[in-house]
Amino acid sequence: MQHKSDELFQGAAPYYARHRPGYPPEFFSELRRRFDLDGTQTVLDLGCGTGQIAIPVAAAVARVFAVDPDPDMLVEGKRSAAGTTNIEWLRGDSSQLASLNLPPLDLVTMGKSFHWTDRPALLTELDTRIRPHGAVVVVTAALHDAATVAPWDDIVRTLRDKYLGARRRGGSTYRGYQHSEETHLDVLARSPFCEVDVTRSGWSIERDIDAIVGLQFSFSYSNPAQFGSDERCAAFADELREALLDRYPNGTVTEPLTIETLIATRPTSRTTTRSATPV
Ligand SMILES: C[S@@+](CC[C@H](N)C(=O)[O-])C[C@H]1O[C@@H](n2cnc3c(N)ncnc32)[C@H](O)[C@@H]1O
Repeated sequence: MQHKSDELFQGAAPYYARHRPGYPPEFFSELRRRFDLDGTQTVLDLGCGTGQIAIPVAAAVARVFAVDPDPDMLVEGKRSAAGTTNIEWLRGDSSQLASLNLPPLDLVTMGKSFHWTDRPALLTELDTRIRPHGAVVVVTAALHDAATVAPWDDIVRTLRDKYLGARRRGGSTYRGYQHSEETHLDVLARSPFCEVDVTRSGWSIERDIDAIVGLQFSFSYSNPAQFGSDERCAAFADELREALLDRYPNGTVTEPLTIETLIATRPTSRTTTRSATPV
């Protein structure tokens, strides 16, 4: 890891809880079906954020350990999970699992968080913690697909470049996020969890202008701390709101969303597969 894991999303947590879309019901029903989730399993949701996976999955298993290095994400997650009693919210990152006293795990889920980890080292460690028939489930936003680019992306980019510069940031440094050439599928395929099924699903949501503005503060590269002051955050929000209203005078926009799910298990007799379903 090139960054401090707990400073990547500074100030983002309330925006994350409010504006990130989470995952569609089909994603959770597929997990239930594929792993016969019957209220007895133990799940680690690593990089849990504000509980986009941890909270819905808790309804199908015995215990969820929701782990994240960002304390504010955990606060928001707990708030969203009010009434759910089988989630333990723990502060830690992928390099600190040894200190968390986790029991043997049936499933480890990582929603949009695997890229922040030292992937090979983490998978080696998970091999010691996941039961024989368990699995690693990695979910990404499939952003390499042009169909999933938000229709307002050009407007946001122009203003983001104006306020934050064109280089992508992560945490407090430009080096915070470095895109790896090696795909998640490649990393998994040479790990103990080398049997990988890849599926994609797509859906869409309606957003109003304030939700589009709020969404920007949920990203590591445009979280509130990146702007340096409340005044600059407010100025960015005002300019963005105005530009969006100019293009979308009725105030709502449909956003297409896609996820790619990689379900990785230890080898049985088959070889690595890629079974994409149409979006
Ligand atoms: C994009 S958010 C994903 C949140 C949620 N899982 C979801 O699917 O929406 C990424 C999360 O990973 C966490 N994170 C960053 N580095 C991490 C690491 N090395 N180990 C575990 N989590 C990490 C961040 O604090 C953040 O909450």
